[in-house]
Amino acid sequence: MENLNPSLETMRKKMKAFSKSLANDESRAEDDAEAARSFLAHATPLVDARLHELVPPETREPVLVHSAIRWSLFAGGKRLRPALLLAAGNAFGAKDDILLRAACAFEMIHTYSLIHDDLPSMDDDSLRRGRPTCHVQFGEAIAILAGDALQTLAFGTVAEDESLNAEKRVRVVSELARAAGTPDGMLAGQCFDLAAESRSVSAQELEAIHRHKTGAIIRASACCGAIIAGASAHDTESVSTYAAHLGLLFQITDDLLDVTSSIERLGKTPGKDARSQKATYPALYGIETARSLAERTCEEACAHLDRIETPTQILRSIARFVLLRTA
Ligand code: IPE
Ligand code: IPE
Ligand code: MG
Ligand code: MG
Ligand code: MG
Repeated sequence: MENLNPSLETMRKKMKAFSKSLANDESRAEDDAEAARSFLAHATPLVDARLHELVPPETREPVLVHSAIRWSLFAGGKRLRPALLLAAGNAFGAKDDILLRAACAFEMIHTYSLIHDDLPSMDDDSLRRGRPTCHVQFGEAIAILAGDALQTLAFGTVAEDESLNAEKRVRVVSELARAAGTPDGMLAGQCFDLAAESRSVSAQELEAIHRHKTGAIIRASACCGAIIAGASAHDTESVSTYAAHLGLLFQITDDLLDVTSSIERLGKTPGKDARSQKATYPALYGIETARSLAERTCEEACAHLDRIETPTQILRSIARFVLLRTA
């Protein structure tokens, strides 16, 4: 029967080959994401052990602020930013031990940003990293101070990093300050985010909010890995541009997870963005288009890795992991 209609048969074969190649693409993407998960599993204990050394013990006065810092810092974050710094540094030949202090500084800045982001006057969240938020546990004043303390600890951590020469320390401090602050960094992005609540934003504005509030720190993490490794200006620029796209991708997937995931998986309360009328990708585009934009942003990120000659497989896999993440 099938031979009676050869064009139908050809079509059927083509469809079969197409769905097989789709399945292959999906399984390749999953394999890639798995490589990133292993890398995060390698980086996390290294980062955590160094953070324990760098942060004052809970027994040291003022006990309350040190307890609050540790409450938020050791609650089980993904450690994406320090892992990215390690991966970028490794890609250009640096070993973990000279990258670790700077990597921890990025995690300190990130955790400070989360503590302040959750405050009643900001996003007013009560759950973070699977536990009550810092201000719920310790009160608002101590949470503000814990965030401030993490910020100054981060800069001190880099300034006093004896594995780096003076020039590299200054470059990393400068990248960190620009990425955390204003007008081009996270703080500016948080202002834009709050100002965009309850009003409609253009596609361009939304992208700018996300690039500032989340993208800048992620970009700088990779950039500093390259700086510490002594990468060329060309390679540092390429890896930074990759990570700027990765940062946008990270916030698009954060927006999507707020709509699609659960409290158990996220360790934070889903559905908050819609309730606060936040400017997000699913709100502006709908879930399907937001997903397509995430895929496109992932491809754009990886395209910048093609310009680098040293091995960038882990960086590529981190982009896949961020695209496919469920938490
Ligand atoms: C949450 O960051 C805040 C955003 C920038 C979207 P993460 O999703 O990296 O949070 P942790 O560090 O894993 O808790
Ligand atoms: C956070 O964006 C960006 C930061 C600078 C912390 P969100 O407000 O969406 O992060 P979550 O969802 O609370 O983690
Ligand atoms: Mg926020
Ligand atoms: Mg928030
Ligand atoms: Mg969010």
